[in-house]
Amino acid sequence: MNAETLGNVQVTWPDGECINLPTLWLRDVCPCEECRIAQTQEKRFHLATLDSVSIETLTVIDDLLCVSWAGGHTSQYPRAFLSGDHARATPRWEPWSDDYSPAYVDFASFQANDVCAQTAIEEFLRSGVLILENAPTEEATLELLAKRLGPIREVLFERIHNVKVDPNGYNVAHTNLGLPPHNDFASYSWPPSVQALHMLANEASGGRSTIFDGWGLLEEFRSDEPGAFDVLCRVGVPFREFDESNETFACEPIIRLNAKGELVIFRYSNQLMQVMNPSDPDTAAFYDAYYKLSRRLFDTDKVRRFRLEGGQILIVASHRILHGREAIDDAGYRHLQDAYFEHDNVRNMLTVLARSHD
Ligand SMILES: [Fe+2]
Ligand SMILES: [Zn+2]
Repeated sequence: MNAETLGNVQVTWPDGECINLPTLWLRDVCPCEECRIAQTQEKRFHLATLDSVSIETLTVIDDLLCVSWAGGHTSQYPRAFLSGDHARATPRWEPWSDDYSPAYVDFASFQANDVCAQTAIEEFLRSGVLILENAPTEEATLELLAKRLGPIREVLFERIHNVKVDPNGYNVAHTNLGLPPHNDFASYSWPPSVQALHMLANEASGGRSTIFDGWGLLEEFRSDEPGAFDVLCRVGVPFREFDESNETFACEPIIRLNAKGELVIFRYSNQLMQVMNPSDPDTAAFYDAYYKLSRRLFDTDKVRRFRLEGGQILIVASHRILHGREAIDDAGYRHLQDAYFEHDNVRNMLTVLARSHD
């Protein structure tokens, strides 16, 4: 491609506002019917089909930019199209405030009432937590949540996981021990991003549920301990969950960021973490950082503790929120079911609900 095809063009609107636009971008996003598929609104034109890209004339008429491209194509761009942010907006996550406590929403209203569901999902996207109450106490009630949360994300073991005290259980959750803050299936390279915990019956004393704003902690840690934060983004850690018929394993960093440096996954599970190679020089650096972070996680008043009663469903954004429980201290009957969903599908639901109102 010729050097002159790259770079920016400068556009001055009649009111004097001046904008710079990358030339290749401008050609790529042409909104005309030839360049897009009218039926699907997808892009049809492909930049790679041009040997070179250059502009013959560029004209501004009121709030419309008209471009004639060398080779004969003409494009017209409304001003709003060129200045707008084309990303679809859903509420951003917000760290918990000091007085944060989880929102409780009636299960039947959440399922039946679109306005209630929309408000609840917005709250979920901001805080990472929602508790549904007055839910049925039948097994597999979590299947019904697909209406609002999208399809169940299946993982190995069970589609709907049963958590009871079980001497044959494959995981610490099946004992009466306390569970420190963690998220589930750190042993998958993409762990489930939403978890729903449905209490069917809780006649045991003790066993209060705990939740913790992992991303809130990580943002504080990033600003206080930037070097340690980087180590936790960089060093792969082995995680394994298994039983007689399943073996899941992933070696991934504790913190995963996206291209903008924003948090994507906080992977934290003391119980599933495996032995790291002590002769790898990263192991010592990792442990220094991991110890600092874990001390903060345990030495904090930011854990929220509450008793999850029969008929309540705790839903967490599980790449962000860690969950746990205190030890169960008597033998009263306690039965919890777990299922997983995906955060992308929950955000989709919010967009669909909002679209149905517009
Ligand atoms: Fe768990
Ligand atoms: Zn076009």
